[in-house]
Amino acid sequence: MGDNIRIDPWSSSQSTDYQRIIDQFGLESIDSRSLPNPSMLHRRNIVFAHRDLDVILRAKSKGNSFGVLTGLMPSGKMHLGHKMVIDQVRWFQELGADVTIAVADLEAHATRGLSLEDCRKNALEEYVSNYAAMGLDPEKTKIYFQSKRPIVQRIGFTLGKKTNLSEMEAIYGFNGETNLAHVQAPLVQVGDIVHPMLDEYGGLRPIVVPVGVDQDPHIRLTRGLTSKSNWFNLKEGKNGGLNISLSIQDENSLAMGVSENGRLNREVRDQLFSEISNNLTEVGYADFVKNPKHGTFGIPSATISDYDEVKFILLNLERKMGGLGLLQPASTYHKFAVGMTGDKMSSSKPNTTIFLTDDLKTIEKKIKSAFSGGKSTIEEHRLHGGNPDIDVAYQYMMYFFEEDDARLRELNEGYRAGKILAGEMKQICIERANEWMNEHQELKQQNAHLVDAYLS
Ligand code: TRP
Repeated sequence: MGDNIRIDPWSSSQSTDYQRIIDQFGLESIDSRSLPNPSMLHRRNIVFAHRDLDVILRAKSKGNSFGVLTGLMPSGKMHLGHKMVIDQVRWFQELGADVTIAVADLEAHATRGLSLEDCRKNALEEYVSNYAAMGLDPEKTKIYFQSKRPIVQRIGFTLGKKTNLSEMEAIYGFNGETNLAHVQAPLVQVGDIVHPMLDEYGGLRPIVVPVGVDQDPHIRLTRGLTSKSNWFNLKEGKNGGLNISLSIQDENSLAMGVSENGRLNREVRDQLFSEISNNLTEVGYADFVKNPKHGTFGIPSATISDYDEVKFILLNLERKMGGLGLLQPASTYHKFAVGMTGDKMSSSKPNTTIFLTDDLKTIEKKIKSAFSGGKSTIEEHRLHGGNPDIDVAYQYMMYFFEEDDARLRELNEGYRAGKILAGEMKQICIERANEWMNEHQELKQQNAHLVDAYLS
């Protein structure tokens, strides 16, 4: 399979063959009609794929708690691409999620050479103040600095034991030249993603991470490591039912009933199995098929709809026995808005995007010189129409500025039909961008006081 897509969080180019990405990496498509209160990003299929989003939605519909987590690199300036992630965070918050946001100051310090103080200043001024403007609820939003939460590094260490350089190479394309900070940063990020599940940070509950597809390697790494760290595996049986099997590891073998000499300690194993039965009986399961010797435990009467509940019972038991008891994080994936020049949007190339600190003149200039899907002459454009799919002004209306689906459709059809000219599309976008930015700046002032609440 020489033509596999490589996804690399640090690359400056990015595949937009989203169907192939779904197929190759085993993502699930999102049908926005199945979502509660879909946002414009869902309705437009910009948020197009997920892993385990159903776990989050089931938690919501059962009234159970769930969280959303994201992170920011405090080395650059917040732009429209970052705004899109916060829009999704807010959507989850409106569904009932608590919000955790990691400031990746350790990562920025190690990979970009910023001092931790500069990271802090930059995070607050460039990002957190904009989150306040965007309406994250201060009661349900916690923002922290990696450097101030040693637990995220410690988890990176603990879970790092479950991977090796070959796997890191396979996931990230690392090689012998790779800077070790680039090996360490993803492990700290694993800590970021899973630590909200710890008892001190909200306890066991599903966590979802909304990301751009380029970040999927981090999600795959995190999901792989959490599942390897689990003490009990849970699978649907071939003939129905749910099957539990023990995952014996260095750190749990004694508790799992394996003696120092590697032999089965029948007494400990039997006790563990009665503990599992007791926990399951308490919530109404009966009838178990136990094979303590092989470390398998069947619940024939359970169905796949019991999966979440049984999984939670096992993770709680693992915690009681001294394990981390981590659920695999869920994730959603969004497509990328084209950069304004036609390249990938990037903080280091100011003309590819709009920063949330750009003044109206700069915004106007950027949109005016943006890549256009119009024809080269007015006559041709009137005759054949333009292509909104590659027109930056139209795309930015779709991704960022035009909430109203009907109005967006008008623009799309008008452009294709040649009724709206490229310059007119740009003018429309400039006006809406200005409106959005004015309102944003006003809210930023009004809500400036929330910044402290997020940090406390
Ligand atoms: N590495 C991410 C970036 O470059 C920032 C980040 C740190 C992050 N921790 C995270 C993102 C956890 C998502 C989840 O932007």
